[in-house]
Amino acid sequence: TQTYRITLLPGDGIGPEIIAVAVDLLKKVGQQHDLRFEFQEALLGGAAIDATGSPLPADTLELCKNSDAVLLAAIGGYQWDTLPNDQRPERGLLGLRAGLELFANLRPASILPQLVDASSLKREVVDGVDIMVVRELTGGIYFGQPRGIFTSETGERRGVNTMVYTESEVERIGRVAFEAARKRRKKLCSVDKSNVLEVSQLWRDTITKLAADYPDVELTHMYVDNAAMQLLRNPKQFDTIVTGNLFGDILSDAAAMLTGSIGMLPSASLGSSGPGLFEPVHGSAPDIAGQDKANPLAQVLSAAMMLRYGLNEPQAGDRLEQAVLKVLDQGYRTGDIMSDGMTLVGCKAMGEALLAALED
Ligand code: NAD
Ligand code: IPM
Ligand code: MN
Repeated sequence: TQTYRITLLPGDGIGPEIIAVAVDLLKKVGQQHDLRFEFQEALLGGAAIDATGSPLPADTLELCKNSDAVLLAAIGGYQWDTLPNDQRPERGLLGLRAGLELFANLRPASILPQLVDASSLKREVVDGVDIMVVRELTGGIYFGQPRGIFTSETGERRGVNTMVYTESEVERIGRVAFEAARKRRKKLCSVDKSNVLEVSQLWRDTITKLAADYPDVELTHMYVDNAAMQLLRNPKQFDTIVTGNLFGDILSDAAAMLTGSIGMLPSASLGSSGPGLFEPVHGSAPDIAGQDKANPLAQVLSAAMMLRYGLNEPQAGDRLEQAVLKVLDQGYRTGDIMSDGMTLVGCKAMGEALLAALED
């Protein structure tokens, strides 16, 4: 029996509800594939602020570093929104990504045939969409210096953030993206704003040079404003997208709606060594927290990505994904993916249906 140490970070809002579903499924899948999971729970985000004063307590980071993989739900909520920036729940998540050096965030957005009618876009636009967004995660404007709110001599306040990328940062995320494209349909679109930003000119230049090492991958470039438009106009033109931290954050939420709901989108955050972090693309959904309305499928699919990319247990990952397809085939839907003739269920009932689907 293979044993894996998994750190669980339930976080805030709907986090505890959706991670409970994923943990039950992992236990069952573990039995079926002869894997033993040692789960350790730790505090992150608002929950950590309330208990310790810090959004990323030192023991949480230590525990994560010493595990084989980290499964995160989501962090954040209204009650922490007025804290100074460096004490907010979001800082905990950013500190965790930086602390584990998780520079590559893979955000697959593909439409499941069962959900074509749950998308807000027309069937012919979304049917068959299969996109991989590769988002740089530890650089760019999220981390650049200087940053802060400064008061000038006249007393006026200035808010400052800085978008910075070094060549080596662009090169390492570029390599991840070219490799990902190579395993897919061999098309890579690099998204930037090089008509305005120097940082994007360096980005485009570096990605273009890298292409020489990947002659089998067709590279194109697109400005980010056009990319946002093209994602809605004709998403099937995209295979793999590589972009910086901020643009990737925005475009991956847009890509989520192609698949019916942000409640469907998983992600994997990976470094060059050490444990990966697996988390839904969505947030803590404070508007529906505690009401048993959350869609747990993005969390379950994130656990499947953990099995596949984090623990190299692709068969167990496949089984989890098959269970998701099966409950959708059976017609179970949470509110965010509900459509005519389907059975509306809550988070818990969806979890039970998934467990049953794993049985056979
Ligand atoms: P959000 O993704 O939490 O919610 C946006 C909308 O989508 C809401 O209406 C919500 O109800 C819905 N939604 C999201 N996930 C859902 C699910 N699984 N099932 C059903 N509906 C779902 O984004 P927001 O409202 O902008 O942010 C809320 C909080 O989450 C903020 O504090 C934000 O900073 C944080 N956040 C955290 C993460 C993370 O932990 N990775 C990601 C994004 C936002
Ligand atoms: C995400 C979130 C985070 C981000 C926030 C909560 C820090 O929006 O994971 O997409 O901007 O990266
Ligand atoms: Mn986001």
